[in-house]
Amino acid sequence: MRQAGRYLPEYRAIRRKADNFLDLCFNPKLAAEITLQPIRRFAFDAAVLFSDILVIPHALGQRVSFEQAGGPRLEALKDESALGKLRPEIDQGVLEPVYETIERVAKELPESVALLGFCGAPWTVATYMIAGMGTSDQLPAREFAYRHPEAFAALIDSLVEGSAAYLIRQFKAGVDAVQIFDTWAGVLPPDGFHRYCIEPCAKIVAKARKDVPNAKMIGFPRGAGTRLKNYVAGVPVDAVGLDWMIDFDFARDEIQSRRPVQGNLDPLALLIGGKTLDAATDRIIEAFASGPFIFNLGHGVLPATPIAHIERLIARVRSLC
Ligand code: CP3
Repeated sequence: MRQAGRYLPEYRAIRRKADNFLDLCFNPKLAAEITLQPIRRFAFDAAVLFSDILVIPHALGQRVSFEQAGGPRLEALKDESALGKLRPEIDQGVLEPVYETIERVAKELPESVALLGFCGAPWTVATYMIAGMGTSDQLPAREFAYRHPEAFAALIDSLVEGSAAYLIRQFKAGVDAVQIFDTWAGVLPPDGFHRYCIEPCAKIVAKARKDVPNAKMIGFPRGAGTRLKNYVAGVPVDAVGLDWMIDFDFARDEIQSRRPVQGNLDPLALLIGGKTLDAATDRIIEAFASGPFIFNLGHGVLPATPIAHIERLIARVRSLC
């Protein structure tokens, strides 16, 4: 999941120098450096490209900014007419620096360390485009989808096209695999889960594989719960990210039996550390380590997480697996 960021002093030192977070994402030299920071410090098995899912709205012409605290801000899409102001396709020129970051990192990483690219899933990206910020339940996007179903479907289609094109270029620049983050999949009602999570993600996978036949892809529909079974049936990803809320028996019997899984330590257990962290780690290894499995968090590292807890986690996982 997210491995760079504010919990790292070396990241904060670079972040302080940039006014706008997106300037960092579009600065290949600094973005490559931030991508490599967690690898140098922790010797992880894979590096996660430093960028953000909101570069896609930016490439569609929507203004995106990040406050020092308080998360992303976008010019909210209030109604159908606002969609008409977006570009019909992403401007690849805007994203060129991201591909250059990938080329730089790929050159520097040892052969044994994978490089992971990513994009946001259409539904999750649409929630930020419509609300103009993060919300706890994505009510603005859900309301928009009910009120203006055709305009909403057109937005999702445009994000499918843009995301697929973006991932294809990431592969061509040198990533080994990509993850599709559907952080807000869990708030969708059942038919919406099918239309706005499963179908668009399946289209992205198909489009990417048409250009890059053996493209390796990981899906992460956070909060999907038992609908994760529908997700793996409908989206032909190579592996599935599990969030920290999922039932272990369900995930092992119904999901890991069908697809390799990745996850799913509660980021809060990592922040707390000590015996809480050890017990949570052991439970995950007991549940999943006998099948195809990547140990990971169930979401991103929280900014207040002490570095010593991450070191403790890595030592424990490496000693047990
Ligand atoms: O390892 C990495 O950190 C890789 C890069 C990465 C970032 N964002 C950098 C980032 C990745 C993989 C993302 C994905 C992302 N971005 C998602 C999906 C995954 C998830 O966490 O759910 C989402 C929903 C976003 C949108 C976004 N970007 C939000 C809601 C925020 C604010 C949250 C926060 O922690 O402040 C961001 C900002 C952001 N993206 C930061 C980083 C390192 C922190 C910004 C800062 O330093 O000011």
